[in-house]
Amino acid sequence: MEKINIILVGFGRVGQAFFNLLREKYDYCRARYGLELELRGIVRNKGSILLSSTQRVMTPAYFLTEDLDTLADWIPSITLSDFLEEFGSGIVVDCTPSNLENGEPGFTIMKAALEKGWHVVTASKGALVLRPGELQNLSKEKNVLIKASGATAAALPTLDVGLNSLAGATIQAIEGLLNGTCNYILTRMNEGLSYDQALEEAQEKGIAERDPSLDVGGWDTAAKMILIANQVLGTEIRLSEAIVRGIVGITPEIIEKTRRLDKVLKLIGKCDRESYDAPWKVEVGLALLDREHPLAGINEANKGIIFYTDTMGWVAVSGGKSDPRGAAAALLKDIISIYWRA
Ligand SMILES: NC(=O)c1ccc[n+]([C@@H]2O[C@H](COP(=O)([O-])OP(=O)(O)OC[C@H]3O[C@@H](n4cnc5c(N)ncnc54)[C@H](OP(=O)(O)O)[C@@H]3O)[C@@H](O)[C@H]2O)c1
Repeated sequence: MEKINIILVGFGRVGQAFFNLLREKYDYCRARYGLELELRGIVRNKGSILLSSTQRVMTPAYFLTEDLDTLADWIPSITLSDFLEEFGSGIVVDCTPSNLENGEPGFTIMKAALEKGWHVVTASKGALVLRPGELQNLSKEKNVLIKASGATAAALPTLDVGLNSLAGATIQAIEGLLNGTCNYILTRMNEGLSYDQALEEAQEKGIAERDPSLDVGGWDTAAKMILIANQVLGTEIRLSEAIVRGIVGITPEIIEKTRRLDKVLKLIGKCDRESYDAPWKVEVGLALLDREHPLAGINEANKGIIFYTDTMGWVAVSGGKSDPRGAAAALLKDIISIYWRA
């Protein structure tokens, strides 16, 4: 049985879903993978809590605490560095906001963890997409891993497929329907709702954020596509290099026209290049898809990705709808994949 120290940073929707999932899956991970996933502490903006210390060995009983969000005594003076010092090694799980302007707080959190020789599993996109290479180089130097399934369409497997399942094949292009909010809005508009009605419904269902601008502006799709491309293709594309258009301004008349053409309108992120030695480019925009296109039938908050390869043809994956539990599940998957070999 291997004991893994986990420090959770960020305790919003995804952080809390991850906490609950660890409680739910503790025994399963022990029995199935031989891993005791020990959550040692949680750090958030308003303070931290220590769930166990090296003196007081953790038992799953800590997970019985029902409502940490409101009941816990969050202590501002305990920092991530304190946890890193106390426990020596393990995994930092980053569930802080995706800041696409300066990559913080994710960059500072991940850098601190890597420098101390901790693995990082992240749901946040900002640092990796704005400063590609920097954190990866540090992780190589320290011989630890950064895993970002939670930041790259979460419950939809993207990186695992591109990195492992297609190993040896040359990937020629990637297309992704990667944003649940946009897909939900377009699906509901196709069923007769206006843009505003569809967005409001997505917000009521917790699919869209209160401020949906990164999603509907196409930036979330661009960030995910860049993260996937940079890892799977080994590129170092920055967000500022992507051409990005979202779904803002789409009207029922446009939807009606696409229906008359017997096409399906989807927000697609693409990474491709004009020739073998040309640079890779990332572009996000509305695309008119034939009904037979593998991404055309993906509706509501579900997502999908296609890899075009030289030896395996095209390979598509779909599903993995956007929600905090799916994101938490992707974080757990990354943790297991660091330690467990089938
Ligand atoms: N929501 C989803 O379905 C989903 C799916 C996939 C990926 N993601 C990604 O997952 C991440 C978290 O999303 P969310 O919806 O859980 O966000 P959220 O509800 O806004 O929670 C963010 C959390 O980060 C904490 N935080 C902010 N600044 C911090 C700092 N400097 N140090 C430590 N903690 C800090 C906040 O602390 P306080 O609570 O004290 O303010 C809060 O607990 C984002 O990067 C998002 O893009 C979300």
